[in-house]
Parts: sequence; structure tokens; C-alpha cells
Amino acid sequence: MNVGSIKTVMTTEKKNMSQILIGNDFWKMRNENISLPIYWRESEVSNHHVGVAGTSGAGKTHWIRQFVTGMSDTIEIDIFDYHGDIEIPGATTVLFSEATRYGYNPLILNTDEHYGGVRRAVNDVIQAINSTSRKLGANQEGVLRNLLLDTYMLKGIYADNPLSWKKREASEAEIKEMKAQRNWSGLREIYPSLSDVINLAKRKLKALWMGIEDKDHGRQALSAFDDYARAMAAINQLRIKLNKANIKDDEESQRLEKRMEVAKGKALETHATFLNNMESGREFEEAMKYNSKDVLLSVITRLENLHATGIFNANPPPFGNARIRRYVLKPLAQSEDELKMFVRFRLRAIIRERMQRGESGGKLEHFIVLDESKKFNDEDASNPINIIVNELRKFGLGILLSGQSPAHFSSDFIKNAGTLLLLNLATSDWDEAARKLKIEVKNLKYLKPQESAAVRMLEKRQSAVFRQIKFG
Ligand SMILES: Nc1ncnc2c1ncn2[C@@H]1O[C@H](COP(=O)(O)OP(=O)(O)OP(=O)(O)O)[C@@H](O)[C@H]1O
Ligand SMILES: [Mg+2]
Repeated sequence: MNVGSIKTVMTTEKKNMSQILIGNDFWKMRNENISLPIYWRESEVSNHHVGVAGTSGAGKTHWIRQFVTGMSDTIEIDIFDYHGDIEIPGATTVLFSEATRYGYNPLILNTDEHYGGVRRAVNDVIQAINSTSRKLGANQEGVLRNLLLDTYMLKGIYADNPLSWKKREASEAEIKEMKAQRNWSGLREIYPSLSDVINLAKRKLKALWMGIEDKDHGRQALSAFDDYARAMAAINQLRIKLNKANIKDDEESQRLEKRMEVAKGKALETHATFLNNMESGREFEEAMKYNSKDVLLSVITRLENLHATGIFNANPPPFGNARIRRYVLKPLAQSEDELKMFVRFRLRAIIRERMQRGESGGKLEHFIVLDESKKFNDEDASNPINIIVNELRKFGLGILLSGQSPAHFSSDFIKNAGTLLLLNLATSDWDEAARKLKIEVKNLKYLKPQESAAVRMLEKRQSAVFRQIKFG
């Protein structure tokens, strides 16, 4: 059987509105041998969210490919493909892996005063991490929040001043190049990245160890300490080299020795200045906003792991102006937490962007495809999938989820999705599906992999019933 016959039909009066043939009425075909085509009509369904359920091999991905291919070419599409098997003609595909290092810098701000800003970006990062199996503890969350706010502040970006939110996006390579050229003013014009947060966190950790505050005189003392430590390390390295080569003394070693002495003097002096200038006696408490060394260290470890995956690096994927963007996430399939964070993060960005653009007058403008969505669904109202299903219809955003069983969809999704397509289901899922979806078990028994389905389309002026369809 083939669903190759799925077609897009554009009617003249509804220009650009998708109408997709999804199969023929099963009973008409069976009893009267008549083909009665059943269409999914963008303008008729009550919303554009679609759920597809079926056992492995039932034909979910195949159906999704046909469905998306049939959509009007005015619709922007984001496909999260972590099996790497949703090829769509005309899609631009980017592979995300530790090797390609494509990713999105989570600290880039949406500059819209109402939908964007520093606090939202900070919350997005925290929520993305908290969506994983390893939630942040209350102390860790507080520390990370302070770190992110301070990292922005160091770039002159303030939560309360939208005028300061506009900076430039730059790739890792570009940032590296600017650092090599000591282009500090240029770097100030660029959004901070995760590495900046990690560097700041390490600095704060050092301040905690030394018991001084990373500010004014304290900061000078820390810098002097760093210089001293660096000079000492350089000398030691050189000594090892000289020893190996059996050279006793050396001009370079004397020079470094002198440099170290100077650095030491400076460190002593700045530390004394810091002590002499302590004012409130609360300098240490201020440093305490970074909690304990242990908490800070654990946050640093989390950030470093995140950085290592590559998906949150400042290396924008080369999608260009592509209308259909396919994110192949197969290499991340093993790291479930990272995968979850990535998808959640993108979904939130898309939601913001759509809300910012405003209402679409009922038109579908942007469609998201999430195959095997079990990993991403839950009942949490702040889960972006539930937000999309509950609130984003009027902003022209639709989402397609697929899963092995309807039990993998959230109750918000099942209640609200305009279209539900059931393919062959596992017998153990029949009773629950029948109860939840109001379909008779006998109708589920008929469903054959790759051949037939039951579809419920909530259409304006129509009652919501499942219809049996046959592909091909
Ligand atoms: N309607 C169909 N007509 C012809 N071939 C089909 C049809 N549906 C699915 N197939 C074929 O059956 C195989 C399995 O389909 P598919 O990959 O879509 O299953 P799936 O439900 O996504 O499974 P999984 O859960 O394992 O990803 C594929 O080779 C696909 O081409
Ligand atoms: Mg599949």
C-alpha cells in the first residue's frame, strides 16, 4: 500500500491554504468499492495540532513525511528528527553533533520589550536544565541565576533596560579571533556565551576560596593573584624544560623570575589595598550570593557538561533562509537530557518569535514536527508543547507529535489536538485508548500497519468522531 497519492490541492478561493488527502473512507471502499477521499483542510480543522500514534513500523514516519510534503509552501516548518529518517523534499538538513558543533547560544536575547529580555532568557536556560532528569537544586538555581545576570551585566546588558539588550551574534571562531586580537571593544558588542558564564563562575569560585569580593579592589587583587600564579607556572614549566636539557641557568628563567617577583609584589599590594578598603564588613556576604564553593563547583560542572555537548555553543546552524529546517539530532539520541534541553529550548524560541509576530487570523504559518515525542511530553503546564497546544493556535503555530501509544501524549494535547491519527496500536493499549479517545475497541482492532488508520478531525460545525480510513 502506498500513501504516495497524498496530494496538496490549492483551491482558488483559499489560496495558500493546505488541503491534504490523507486516505479514503474505509467502509465506502470496503462495502461499495467507492473511493471517498478524506482531506485534512487547514481552513476547516479547529486547530492545526496533529497527533499520530502507532506501533513501531505502523507507518508514523512515513505518514508524517507525506503530510508535511503536502503542506502549502507558505508555511515555515521545523522538523526535530532524532532518528534521522524524516527526509522531506526541499528541506535544509543540519546534523547536530559534538563534531559539527552546531548549536544555539542560549544567551542571545529576543530584544522585544514584551516577549524578550534578560529575565526570560535566564528563565529559559534554567527551565531547559530543569526539564532534564537532573533538576537544579534551589541553591544551584539561585547561583546560576546570579551568574547569568552578572555575565550579562559585564557586557553592559541590564534586565531593566531594554535599550541595552541589542548586541550582535558571533560564532565561536569569530569570538576566538577577536580575543586573539585583543579586540575588547568589539567583544563588548557581542552577546555573552556559555563560556563567558563558565569563566565568570570560575572567577567567583576563586574569589570564594580567597575570601575576597570580585569587585573594585577585590577584583584587582584577584587579577594580581592570577598574574602571580601564571608567572609561577611559566617558571616551573621552563625549569622542567631546562632540567631535561640539562641547562643550569638561563636568561629566560631569570627574566621570568623577575616577572614573578613583580607579580607577587603587586598581589601583596592589591590584597593589602583590598583589606584596607573594606567598607561594610559585608564583602564576604556579598560573595556569598554565590553560595558555597560546593554549590558553585557543581554549577560549573553542569555548565561545562552542557558546553561539551556543543548544542549550546555559539555556532549557528547553516539553515540560511530555509523554509523547511530539519534538525537531525541522531548523534544526541544517547544523551537524553541534552536532547530534551535542545528541543525545549528551540520550542520556546519559536513560541516567543510567533507571539512577537502577532496573531495570524486563523492561518497556519509555522509548523513543528516532533517524531517520537514520548521523551518530551508531560503534564506540566510550562512544558512548551502544552503551551503551544493551549495557546499558540491564534499565532499561527501548529505542532505534530508522534508516539507509539496515545498514552504518550499529555491530556492537554489529546483534548485539544485538532487532528488525531491512530495507526495500528499494541493490543495492550486498546482499552486505555478506547476510554481516553472515545473510540470503540473493535475499531482499533481493524487497524493494520501501513494500510489503515482511524482519524479524528475536530472540524468547525462537525462532530468529533473517528473515521476509518484506508491508505492508497
Ligand atoms: N502507507 C504506507 N505505504 C507503504 N509503505 C509504508 C506505509 N507506511 C509505512 N510504510 C513503510 O513501512 C516501514 C515502516 O514505516 P515507518 O518508518 O513510517 O514506521 P514508524 O511507525 O515510524 O516506526 P518507528 O516507530 O519504528 O519509527 C517503512 O519502510 C515505510 O516506508
Ligand atoms: Mg518512525
